[in-house]
Amino acid sequence: MNDEGVAQFKKLNLDNDSSTNNNLLERNNHEKLVSTSQKPSNQLKNGLLGWYAVCSTRELKDNKPYFFTMFNEPLVIYKDKENNLRCIKDLCPHRGASFIGGEVIDGELVCPYHGARFSSKGECTNLSRITCNHIVDDNYDNYASKIHLFQYICKEVGDYIYIYYTGKAKTNLNDFEVTDPLYTRFINNYGFNIDEYAFEEVVVDFKCDWARIIENHLDILHLFWVHGETIPDNEVNRKVITSFNQEITKERDQIESKYKYKDKTKGEFIRIKFLPPGRIVIYKGEPKEARYIQVLDHIPLSKNQARVIVRHYRKFMKNKLITELLLFRKLQHRVFYKVFTEDYMILRTQTFNNQMGYVEKDNVKLLGEDKMVQYYWDWFKSSNIKDNPWEIHPINSDTNSVHQDIAMLYPPANNKLQKKNTQSIKINLLIRMLIPIGLLLLIL
Ligand code: FES
Ligand SMILES: [Fe+2]
Repeated sequence: MNDEGVAQFKKLNLDNDSSTNNNLLERNNHEKLVSTSQKPSNQLKNGLLGWYAVCSTRELKDNKPYFFTMFNEPLVIYKDKENNLRCIKDLCPHRGASFIGGEVIDGELVCPYHGARFSSKGECTNLSRITCNHIVDDNYDNYASKIHLFQYICKEVGDYIYIYYTGKAKTNLNDFEVTDPLYTRFINNYGFNIDEYAFEEVVVDFKCDWARIIENHLDILHLFWVHGETIPDNEVNRKVITSFNQEITKERDQIESKYKYKDKTKGEFIRIKFLPPGRIVIYKGEPKEARYIQVLDHIPLSKNQARVIVRHYRKFMKNKLITELLLFRKLQHRVFYKVFTEDYMILRTQTFNNQMGYVEKDNVKLLGEDKMVQYYWDWFKSSNIKDNPWEIHPINSDTNSVHQDIAMLYPPANNKLQKKNTQSIKINLLIRMLIPIGLLLLIL
């Protein structure tokens, strides 16, 4: 993480709208609540609407608009003139075109249909282009007040871009009532010191149900069977049957499960933390001591599509050169893509069974080992009834899938990506072999 990112993480919030203060205020209140209450609440506070990490800062590197969907709603993120992030509903308020194919010129979003430009506050700055104002002079002011972009609150913290998703974008960001504090998603909040780690990132898009992917990442049982060959751990293997003691805690902001080997000489296997609605943290040992942390963010693009941002934070290998020399990043990408490809077919068929109602009926039986999954579904079902996010922007089989197609940026079974990765590993190996030979020749 760069220095700026670290500073942002420490600051917790840095955007320029009033929700920053609200969040800090809520944080103080929350801390009081936690320290004074004897028993943590059994009820997870956050539902399905609220803060989501939707992409990584690197997606906006070239200052191009970033298009994606949330619960079917098409959105776009870009940086305005002052370099502030904006998250806009991807719909031009003139005649409803998408901004796909449009541009950001001098920090203003420009519609590709008739060229309307919008300020960072969302007002149209070149009305004359779309109103032929010599014809409609009388109504000019009235029209100007109506044509306005719809936005969501958007923040950049720790190299992540978060949006406060409510399903109802607003013309004025101050009209949002932020009831859900962002800091509860930050891993610093749980005792990890993010400054001590370097991270690598992989993004994968799945054509399957968002909630099933979260379930998959909370489920340790399948690791042994599905990923036994891929995960470089002798204990994680099809041939090995390992028993654990499972310890689950439920608090206001998280559910956590610790898995310890029944064989006491082996200590701890892993800890999994679910921070609703979309973040999972996987690590081992006490947060302060953890040598690696995996942070997975799940983004509900549409009913049948989800994006996962995986970050691997490592305490060792902070040195960039060593990391590169050991091919750490590229090998890690390879492993992640392989793991996700292994999950993919299962998730897709399970999604089908779920959509057909089979999973809901008496066809499945969760076991004791699936306790974490059970708690997750308890939370999901009650949140779904409360927030009902899929009903806010419904789509059906007739819906033109243009946004879904565009959002599919990182499919797991992407042969092109795999080939590129393999190729660059070979080139790197070759260079690595040639350097010492070259040096030797120079000395001679
Ligand atoms: S639809 Fe965007 S300018 Fe007309
Ligand atoms: Fe998996």
